[in-house]
Amino acid sequence: MITVKTAREIDLMREVGKVVGGILVEVAKYVRPGVTTEELDRIAEDYVLSQNAKPAFKGYGYDKRNLFPATICLSIDDQVVHGIPGPRKLEEGQLLSVDVGAIKNGYYGDAAKTFAVGVVSEEKKHLMEVTEKALYLGIENALPGNHVEDISQAVQEYVESNGFSVVRDLVGHGIGTKLHEDPAVPNFGRKGKGPILRSGMTVAIEPMVNAGTYRVYTARDGWTVYTSDGKPSAHFEHTVAITDGKPEILTASNG
Ligand code: MF3
Ligand code: CO
Repeated sequence: MITVKTAREIDLMREVGKVVGGILVEVAKYVRPGVTTEELDRIAEDYVLSQNAKPAFKGYGYDKRNLFPATICLSIDDQVVHGIPGPRKLEEGQLLSVDVGAIKNGYYGDAAKTFAVGVVSEEKKHLMEVTEKALYLGIENALPGNHVEDISQAVQEYVESNGFSVVRDLVGHGIGTKLHEDPAVPNFGRKGKGPILRSGMTVAIEPMVNAGTYRVYTARDGWTVYTSDGKPSAHFEHTVAITDGKPEILTASNG
């Protein structure tokens, strides 16, 4: 069931969305060679709590014996998503995907952005640019009366026309009083398919784009998703409200 939010609920999602956008701005200040991913996680957690919000990912998971242990997901190079922060130090030339979520007043926000650590290769730069542009093309299609896969097709077409591939095993999602709600928002599909979007629906659109094959696998830690060919991946995400006019990005950051 896809829920339609009231204006009051969208207000609350705007509020948590600001916190989520703020986390990315805060973390961005510390992304450089030598910093450990657990240091970045600590910075994110301190920020979320200072905003009277709580981390959305910490303690999340389907397997109760292996819940996500941190505030943010940090995924390096061929790690696609859901990387677990730890003692690993960032190195010059890496891509770092930062995925952040928060809950405040019962409502969730979810966003992600890929950063370059120092100077990166032209291919990695292109991968980041294409993934971010794909996100915005997807968002432009989040209009009332459109179908979910209008978003999907816009993302997929742009990515593939640039010689990259979209991950199939993980998808965007509705979001609100739960982190993951209906509908699923795949990054591949055919215009005119999938549920119809209505004003007041809120969705997290999140292209995960691989430089090589779209195939991925999950590591033995039960979380970290890797590209099957070891080539790099990028991830950009926003929580978006569908309105009678242009879609509203709830997790925009000014940084
Ligand atoms: N943005 C991701 C998602 O929507 C974050 C989930 S990480 C998890 O699925 F730890 F919460 F699973
Ligand atoms: Co998400």
